[in-house]
Amino acid sequence: MTKSQLQFMVFKITTDGVESSEALGEAIGRLLQNQDVISLNGPLGAGKTALTRGIARGWGTPDRVTSPTYTLVNEYRRAADAQTLFHLDCYRLSSADDAETIGLDDILAAEGAVVIEWADRIAAWLPLDRVEIHIAQPADETREFSFTAHGPRSRELIERLRQQREGGV
Ligand SMILES: Nc1ncnc2c1ncn2[C@@H]1O[C@H](COP(=O)(O)OP(=O)(O)OP(=O)(O)O)[C@@H](O)[C@H]1O
Ligand SMILES: [Mg+2]
Repeated sequence: MTKSQLQFMVFKITTDGVESSEALGEAIGRLLQNQDVISLNGPLGAGKTALTRGIARGWGTPDRVTSPTYTLVNEYRRAADAQTLFHLDCYRLSSADDAETIGLDDILAAEGAVVIEWADRIAAWLPLDRVEIHIAQPADETREFSFTAHGPRSRELIERLRQQREGGV
């Protein structure tokens, strides 16, 4: 691993409606592989679940994503090979110690990709090499997605997403 592969990088994408946020998610979902971790942060109503709905579609599940607020963890299996996308929502966790209550270690060790809403609440328990997405809401229908990568795999994922967007895919 070279030093440059470890460098933190940031990439921003702005969307102008829920459909374009879902389409962005779909592009991310197509790039996701088992063991990838996406952490989502941003205020209530920022669009974390909307983005996840797209990610799940891109991952290939036929199921519609719902907010896991009451269950904390939802699992979506894709049609092609039954691989799992785990969708966690940490909003209701009262302390980071509750990471245990959702079985985070088992989820991270399992085969499958992971998307986590309110991930900052359990940041200390997450792998360093994850794609962090912060969502800001500069206007009613506008959302700004800032992507940060801290390791080689998350950097590669963001780089591929950037190439697709710049290529107009
Ligand atoms: N550009 C946009 N992208 C995403 N959602 C948008 C956009 N513009 C408006 N919206 C609206 O913002 C809301 C986003 O809701 P969503 O449940 O995805 O947020 P959330 O971040 O998951 O909230 P919570 O913290 O409660 O889980 C929806 O009502 C959606 O229609
Ligand atoms: Mg949500």
